[in-house]
Amino acid sequence: MLVNNGKYVMNEGVDPLFLAEKYGTPLYVYDFDKIAGQFHRLKAAFDVPNLQLDYACKALTNINLLRFVKSLGGALDTVSIEEAQLGLSAGFEPQEIMFTPNGVAWEEMVAAVGMGLRINIDSLPMLERFGRTFPDVPVCIRINPHIMAGGNVKISVGHIDSKFGISYQQLPSIKAIVENTGMCINGLHMHTGSDIADPEAFLQGADLLLQLAMGFPDLDFVDLGGGFKVTYKPGDQGLDLERLGAMLSARFRDFCQAYGKNLTLVFEPGKFLVSEAGYLLATTSLIKKTPAATFAFLNTGLNHLIRPMFYHAYHHIVNVSNPQGDPHLYQVVGYICETDTLGHNREIPEVREGDVLCLLNAGAYGFMMASNYNSRPRPAEVMLFEGKDYLIRERETMEDLRRHQIDQHLFD
Ligand code: LLP
Repeated sequence: MLVNNGKYVMNEGVDPLFLAEKYGTPLYVYDFDKIAGQFHRLKAAFDVPNLQLDYACKALTNINLLRFVKSLGGALDTVSIEEAQLGLSAGFEPQEIMFTPNGVAWEEMVAAVGMGLRINIDSLPMLERFGRTFPDVPVCIRINPHIMAGGNVKISVGHIDSKFGISYQQLPSIKAIVENTGMCINGLHMHTGSDIADPEAFLQGADLLLQLAMGFPDLDFVDLGGGFKVTYKPGDQGLDLERLGAMLSARFRDFCQAYGKNLTLVFEPGKFLVSEAGYLLATTSLIKKTPAATFAFLNTGLNHLIRPMFYHAYHHIVNVSNPQGDPHLYQVVGYICETDTLGHNREIPEVREGDVLCLLNAGAYGFMMASNYNSRPRPAEVMLFEGKDYLIRERETMEDLRRHQIDQHLFD
């Protein structure tokens, strides 16, 4: 969001206060042009013969976004049959959808085969069962490279103690299964974590995966997952994508030459594509001064954006209604009956009752991790595209909160 003539503007000049007025708050807003910019930046950073971006749609699955990613030439990374079904309904071909579940029941794998998805396997028992049942269906294997990477321990998934992937040290077992079942391995995959700022983590993982890849003669692709860090905090160090791109591309090109075939290099960006494009607009319901602090209460909370509580994540907060006000220190808090602090000790231009505040970087894992805790409806979602706003999800209602509850009328 830019400051233009002392006012905040989104996309091509859209006024966030106009959106708050038109659709009400709390409101998730996504700038699709920004998403396109990130997509093209990622594509441009890697100079390899075949590059494919599978959008990790767990970050945000609104159908308009899925269609948009398809229109940009992207494919999908999914982790549940439901995500894959959303992808199909958005117009993706089954082979454009990678299915990377973790520890799901066999029936879900069978369903994925029936749907014709690309399949990624992350355990030895699943690999064996898959090979015995579907020896003719090529699959990818998710390797755990034993690398500790990612912004915090909850989102670090490629280390030795992680539940994800098949340890690279279990390569002999993988080989034995492949040989005994005659199955075809068409890809190798790894994803070490989210919020990775250090190019070395990617390079180290890539080196390991490419080394292993030499032992699998039928590969079509190598998938290095997602995790590209975006900056949440002013002054934060993001990932130097262009530097990583140059180094990794060179290694990948050398690998292809040694392998004797131009494989496709796949990435699965989630945050990188949608985090910075998303905003959560909320209205200040109350200012409360205590001997210790000034609290600005918003009409949202951990029910709509859980990242600050769950990961201690920082989301920058701006006062859209009073950008020129004198700065004061605030505890920006939600309305949930828990300590749902969205911003600790933030210096923000004076916040008054009724002011609209905006939480930045809310596009990824914002709405998707929202809940109905405290029996609050989830917000509406709006897409901005080429200077226009479009409603892409209705605000939930009381009716939605009652839906699926069955009143047995036993105690009337
Ligand atoms: N590929 C796989 C297999 C993944 O598990 C993930 C994310 C991604 C790609 C995309 O990672 P990204 O580019 O978005 O960092 N809820 C957490 C993030 C959890 C990420 C889970 N897996 C958060 O809000 O920080």
